[in-house]
Amino acid sequence: MQLPMQIKDKIAVVTGAARGIGFAVAARLAKSGARAVALVDSAPEADCEKAAGEINRAAGAEVARVFRGDVCDAAFRAEVFSRMEKEHKDCARICVPAAGILRDAMSVKIGRENGDAQIYDEELFRRVLEVNLLHPVYWAMQMTARIAELRHRAGAKKWRTDEPLQGACVFIGSVSSRGNRGQISYASAKSALSAAAKTLNLEGMFHGVQTKILHPGLVDTPMAAQIPEEQLEKYLLPQISIGRLIAPEEVADAAAMLIESPAVSGPLWIDGGMRPMA
Ligand SMILES: NC(=O)c1ccc[n+]([C@@H]2O[C@H](COP(=O)([O-])OP(=O)(O)OC[C@H]3O[C@@H](n4cnc5c(N)ncnc54)[C@H](O)[C@@H]3O)[C@@H](O)[C@H]2O)c1
Repeated sequence: MQLPMQIKDKIAVVTGAARGIGFAVAARLAKSGARAVALVDSAPEADCEKAAGEINRAAGAEVARVFRGDVCDAAFRAEVFSRMEKEHKDCARICVPAAGILRDAMSVKIGRENGDAQIYDEELFRRVLEVNLLHPVYWAMQMTARIAELRHRAGAKKWRTDEPLQGACVFIGSVSSRGNRGQISYASAKSALSAAAKTLNLEGMFHGVQTKILHPGLVDTPMAAQIPEEQLEKYLLPQISIGRLIAPEEVADAAAMLIESPAVSGPLWIDGGMRPMA
């Protein structure tokens, strides 16, 4: 019987953990017995500490620890993993890089004043790709690299099915990965993230590390609160079979299931039966 990946007693790293989906995932991991959870976010210190306090109060122990910084900063990323490993005497084995940004605009639109066509800002596109695509891929690779090193130094070769799984990474995709009006940068990033998850999953199994992706629909977080009320009521809610937004805790439950279920390779759609937009 294959030994599953358990959340209990593992070291976890969650980005975007000060609020929304990242926070719900971090709280869920702590509730499932993770030994330590790094809450990574660039939000103000008070918000990050509030999130950690809430998780630690519920756990009755100092499980959550804040790391404030930009997830696109490579030195910061390396520091988070090495400090967690040093403090907890094992490397991180769970990574959920949930930080993400929206910078929505039409790819091409005619300017109201001069009638000139405006093209989506290239710098903005790069930033969205950096945060929503490069960051999750590099945080996942950083975790896998450390697991690979430790196994290599212990003389282990290709992961065997009688070994416990060594690590799990869950990416947060989006229904927009199917393509969506007004989201040229975001949809491109999330779509590419699917291919990255599949590739990392195929390669990572050499070291016993699984990488999977789940695709939420509209989740009740501050990100979704940026959508104008009228657009939500008139166009978006009618497309969702269950007639409501998804709770962040529902996404966190799905992430926990993906971490602990070796046979489920994903992608998993957590969209309340959202039909693709016309
Ligand atoms: N809310 C939704 O409807 C929805 C739907 C599908 C997918 N998602 C995805 O889920 C993930 C989480 O979304 P959410 O709704 O919780 O968003 P959110 O905006 O509520 O929270 C995102 C968190 O990420 C942090 N963050 C953003 N950029 C960062 C950076 N460069 N460095 C460090 N921290 C950074 C923010 O400070 C914030 O705390 C994102 O990847 C998003 O694309 C959200």
